[in-house]
Amino acid sequence: MAFPNQSATVYNDTVVRQFAIMTVVWGVVGMLVGVIIAAQLAWPELNLGIPWLTYGRLRPLHTNAVIFAFGGCALFATVYYVVQRTCQVRLFSDKLAAFTFWGWQLVILLAAITLPLGYTTGKEYAELEWPIDILITLIWVAYAVVFFGTVGTRKVKHIYVANWFFGAFIIAVAILHIVNSAEIPAGPMKSYSAYAGVQDAMVQWWYGHNAVGFFLTAAFLGMMYYFVPKQAGRPVYSYRLSIVHFWALIFTYMWAGPHHLHYTALPDWTQSVGMVFSLILLAPSWGGMINGVMTLSGAWHKLRDDPILRFLIVSLSFYGMSTFEGPMMSIKTVNALSHYTDWTVGHVHSGALGWVGLVSMGSMYYLIPRLFGQKQMFSVKAIEVHFWTATIGIVIYIAAMWIAGVMQGLMWRAINADGTLTYTFVESVKATYPFYVLRLLGGTLYLSGMIIMLWNTLKTATAGRAVDITVPPVAAHA
Ligand code: HEM
Ligand code: HEM
Repeated sequence: MAFPNQSATVYNDTVVRQFAIMTVVWGVVGMLVGVIIAAQLAWPELNLGIPWLTYGRLRPLHTNAVIFAFGGCALFATVYYVVQRTCQVRLFSDKLAAFTFWGWQLVILLAAITLPLGYTTGKEYAELEWPIDILITLIWVAYAVVFFGTVGTRKVKHIYVANWFFGAFIIAVAILHIVNSAEIPAGPMKSYSAYAGVQDAMVQWWYGHNAVGFFLTAAFLGMMYYFVPKQAGRPVYSYRLSIVHFWALIFTYMWAGPHHLHYTALPDWTQSVGMVFSLILLAPSWGGMINGVMTLSGAWHKLRDDPILRFLIVSLSFYGMSTFEGPMMSIKTVNALSHYTDWTVGHVHSGALGWVGLVSMGSMYYLIPRLFGQKQMFSVKAIEVHFWTATIGIVIYIAAMWIAGVMQGLMWRAINADGTLTYTFVESVKATYPFYVLRLLGGTLYLSGMIIMLWNTLKTATAGRAVDITVPPVAAHA
């Protein structure tokens, strides 16, 4: 290819485009499965008596699809996009980047086949069996090589803060995956964990909590640190705060896992350590949220007519809400009420739908038109409609789960004067029914927004053409 100047750079946007499109596709699929299992909780007969469609098999399909397929593709797309712009070089290796794309899609496909067939390790968020675990490890190593190779060959001295978060996410997820997936194969699709008893539980929730901390939080904060300033057209509110935020967050998350195991066989002091670190976690979490929201100072008016910015800023409000709620739920006496109830599910989805979902959608709305040589998405009105359906959907979903959760907790602990239980378990299930129907309504609204996004994406892609952006030698960030 002839360049006017030898050191002009053509970014590898092909892989970004592929991951961006698949983010939207897997978003629709994963949320559709969420809606199906939400309907099954209200009407259990909806499994139609078919083993593959039973709740126990579809639930892990939902969590894997939304976290690793939807969230994962959004992270691959944004990491590859951002690292090239902030380092002003092309990705370190096109071949390895392509391997991560096709390999990751294969993992998703294998998950979609094996989970409904009932193959599972039984470890939440790490259900996939050992041959798939090995494939994931290979892809993750390739991802790390591409990312750190690109950072290592950068043309600018400085490493932008988004890359710190992305780097920490890639390293932490590699360690978590390898340690928690240590297992002894007992057949082509069956294995036993290398750990036993309470150690197994502790390793699993060290993994589980840090999957939240690094996959669902640190990496999406990296996304926030690039796309919020870009869309707002303002620099990050405080660069110093972003560095403090980074170190405080990654140090603290690692110790909070035991809050998932309160009142279990885990030594009591370990549970208290988990609780204390969870409470401390409020500070860096809110530091990050404030840094993101305050980036808008002086540009608040943009929220009025920019629906993409609204996605990004409202996602930060949900981040703030769920990271206030989490520390509260980690207090042992509060957890005694919330654990096993739908309050946990409400907390999960205020983080998942509100934070992870909205920040990914906002970032994709920023990226997709640029990847197809367009100034904006095919329909800005449709982005607006998506924003409102998603936001109303989230509010209905989480409000229903909070009320149901607190009600369940109170019903289970209510006792009569003679010490007998006031309610039978089935009475609490019956009382929950209307809230399950409401959650289904909220989820359906959220899914509808995602379907609108898929339509808008296809229209934008067909109206434009795939372009890989070329920047001259001393270009500012594209
Ligand atoms: C249309 C949207 C969605 C609907 C209707 C939905 C519905 C559900 C339902 C019914 C459950 C099972 C709850 C239970 O076992 O009691 C669940 C679990 C879960 N979902 Fe979703 N979901 C949606 C979107 C998402 C998204 C976008 C994410 C993540 C980015 C997510 C992450 C999770 C997680 C982590 C769990 C497990 C929660 C736990 O074990 O406490 N969901 N979802
Ligand atoms: C300061 C930050 C946070 C703290 C201290 C925290 C704390 C907690 C606590 C105490 C639980 C309940 C454990 C139990 O009773 O079983 C929980 C569950 C959960 N949280 Fe958070 N949370 C935080 C932020 C978030 C965010 C931002 C997300 C999502 C993006 C999230 C996702 C989850 C998930 C998926 C579970 C359910 C795990 C399971 O049982 O399957 N958390 N969290």
